[in-house]
Amino acid sequence: MQLREILVFSGLAVATASPLSRRCGPAGILPDQLQPTPSAVSFTYVLPSTGGPIPLPAANSTLQHIAVGHGVQNYTCSTAGTKAGATGALAVLYEVTRLYPRSGPQSLSQESWDELTSKVLRTTSQPIGSDSEESASPFPPPEDLTVEGVRRPIPYLGHHFFDDAGVATFELRDDQGLFKGAKVMNISAPATADQGLNDEGAVDWLYLGDKGSSVGLSKVYRVLTSGGNPAVCGDVGETQSVPYTAMYWIY
Ligand SMILES: *[C@@H]1O[C@H](CO)[C@@H](O)[C@H](O)[C@H]1NC(C)=O
Ligand SMILES: *[C@@H]1O[C@H](CO)[C@@H](O)[C@H](O)[C@H]1NC(C)=O
Ligand SMILES: *[C@@H]1O[C@H](CO)[C@@H](O)[C@H](O)[C@H]1NC(C)=O
Repeated sequence: MQLREILVFSGLAVATASPLSRRCGPAGILPDQLQPTPSAVSFTYVLPSTGGPIPLPAANSTLQHIAVGHGVQNYTCSTAGTKAGATGALAVLYEVTRLYPRSGPQSLSQESWDELTSKVLRTTSQPIGSDSEESASPFPPPEDLTVEGVRRPIPYLGHHFFDDAGVATFELRDDQGLFKGAKVMNISAPATADQGLNDEGAVDWLYLGDKGSSVGLSKVYRVLTSGGNPAVCGDVGETQSVPYTAMYWIY
């Protein structure tokens, strides 16, 4: 799917082909009916990029998907009394592109969109970890996500995980793309971000660049993060799995 700027003409009247009606307009000027009416709404997908004083760079690429990821950020403690170090993350991705404000009939309000990751974190169940003892995969079977206040279930899109080499990976369903990336830039989440289920703080917003073996995808941004930061370590070797959600803009 390729997403470009789209014009939605909410009140566009269809011009008639009748020569009679053409004669009504001044010579050489298109009939009014061919122009968008004043109620036409135009929108572009605008990446949230300003978590703090320095924004993430513009993507300059074609947007492919906007996803909400729900899962865990994993950490391991190497020193007692300090914050645990990141060891990876696991998340299930859901396609939210059609919920983008002003983009179509399924659009959310701007406010609901801005709060979507927080709502998913707080009102839907954690998809990672519960069945991992019995099954080889830490992920649950693919399933769309029902969110209160969102009219239709949000389609399952794929998985985010770190591969055996520790590379951030996004694997989308039905060969819709594979992304292997590395962090190029991080900025703090804004102070207004959802600080997480245990008030641990929201993980940074990120821009990830392609590490070279991606297929069909070139950049991923992590924005509108909720939760996911580590807690201060007790014992050395302690592991933490901190619930988080984020919006991933995938190019
Ligand atoms: C996109 O282009 C702008 C202007 O040239 C540049 O500053 C920015 O770094 C580019 N973004 C990326 C992700 O390279
Ligand atoms: C992260 O934590 C989850 C849940 O505790 C676990 O299922 C998973 O194996 C861990 N993944 C990594 C890469 O440590
Ligand atoms: C980016 O991440 C590094 C490592 O976690 C951190 O030390 C740094 O403060 C972050 N930068 C910003 C602008 O948040």
